[in-house]
Amino acid sequence: MAIQWADYDLDYIRRRYDRIAGLIVPFEWLLFMPTAFRRTAVARIGLRPGDRVLEIGCGTGRNLPFLRDAVGAAGRVYGVDFSSGMLARAGELVRRNDWSNVELTQADAADYRAPEPLDAVMFGLSYNTMPHHRAVLARALDMLRPGGSLVIMDAKLPPGIGGKLVLPFSIWLMKHTVLGNPHIRPWEHLAPLVDGFEMEEFLFGSYYVCRGTKRAG
Ligand SMILES: C[S@@+](CC[C@H](N)C(=O)[O-])C[C@H]1O[C@@H](n2cnc3c(N)ncnc32)[C@H](O)[C@@H]1O
Repeated sequence: MAIQWADYDLDYIRRRYDRIAGLIVPFEWLLFMPTAFRRTAVARIGLRPGDRVLEIGCGTGRNLPFLRDAVGAAGRVYGVDFSSGMLARAGELVRRNDWSNVELTQADAADYRAPEPLDAVMFGLSYNTMPHHRAVLARALDMLRPGGSLVIMDAKLPPGIGGKLVLPFSIWLMKHTVLGNPHIRPWEHLAPLVDGFEMEEFLFGSYYVCRGTKRAG
């Protein structure tokens, strides 16, 4: 099995997500996502009632209930995603819950600009699916207020020999499902750009949450 990764173009990725929008929950099982992973990741952001938070690549909205709970009715949750299929499901969730303070936008994350400075930005299982992730990260930092929190939560290869052994299977699986490039190490991109960088691993290092705060000035 191949261990090379060739980036896909944005339109191909968007169309893939339109097609798999109904499969996100089965993929969570297939990829052994820890049950409390989303809740834990959102807790690590350190949101307070009234905060403004953006999820980049919010998909079908699986993190939105935790984000909405954390900021409360006085806060604001923004979600951006370029897949209409994914976003339609998130929109349905917002309508069902009558969340008037959750605003979803269909756009490429590199082009999105939140309407106000943000207290926090989270990449929810999305960083590795974006070939232009460095540009999206720069844009995310730009939208944050100084001292605001940037969090990346995702799956990764486990450390050591285990990671090397599963790499070919991981590449095959990603190419056939969510198109997340397992060679990308987002925590190495984030760490030099923020203050107070921290990283926490789950399930033998196959999931992680990393975070830091935007520097002043
Ligand atoms: C694996 S899904 C994760 C969805 C959701 N955050 C979750 O945790 O279930 C990745 C999401 O990122 C979105 N995405 C990928 N590239 C994007 C881009 N360039 N701009 C906006 N959204 C993008 C996809 O459409 C998809 O919904």
